[in-house]
Amino acid sequence: MELFKIVTDQSKLKNKCKEVELPLSNEDKTTLLKMIKYLELSQDDEFAQKYDIRPGVGLAANQIGLDKRMLAIYFENGDGSVVKYGLVNPVITSYSVQKSYIASGEGCLSVKKDVPGYVYRHYKITVKAYSVLDEDFITIKARGFLSIVLQHEIDHLNGLLYTDHIDKKDPFHEDDGAIAI
Ligand code: NI
Repeated sequence: MELFKIVTDQSKLKNKCKEVELPLSNEDKTTLLKMIKYLELSQDDEFAQKYDIRPGVGLAANQIGLDKRMLAIYFENGDGSVVKYGLVNPVITSYSVQKSYIASGEGCLSVKKDVPGYVYRHYKITVKAYSVLDEDFITIKARGFLSIVLQHEIDHLNGLLYTDHIDKKDPFHEDDGAIAI
């Protein structure tokens, strides 16, 4: 398993990534499948320790130094079911006014030291993208945790980090209507 070198120099993550040409090249397909695998392995304690890598649930292509609109997601739900995506050119086509946030805060493989504070995001979103696992265009209706992870990763493709959303003056300011996750 080839391990990616994760970009942690934040100045290299501030640009909008380029659209990926479709049909997907074999090279891009292989990269995206490796990104999903990387996330899966990163959540294996033994593997993560051995290779000194941090566990992650999402990865955007610019985090491995590629200027491409591609992202991977991998996590397990509480019931053991697996959520995994390898998406190309994802677009958010609709979202709820309802906001939500992760009560323990977000983290990012590219941000070495966690920055405390709430990141408010849309509770529900609809994303359209080309899916490497389906080899077709798909529509994802996401809510809760998946919705937050998708927004975090799509932000990366637009040159944004979760830290950009934290209120610097009042990082834990309460948004009464937002759902804590
Ligand atoms: Ni991130």
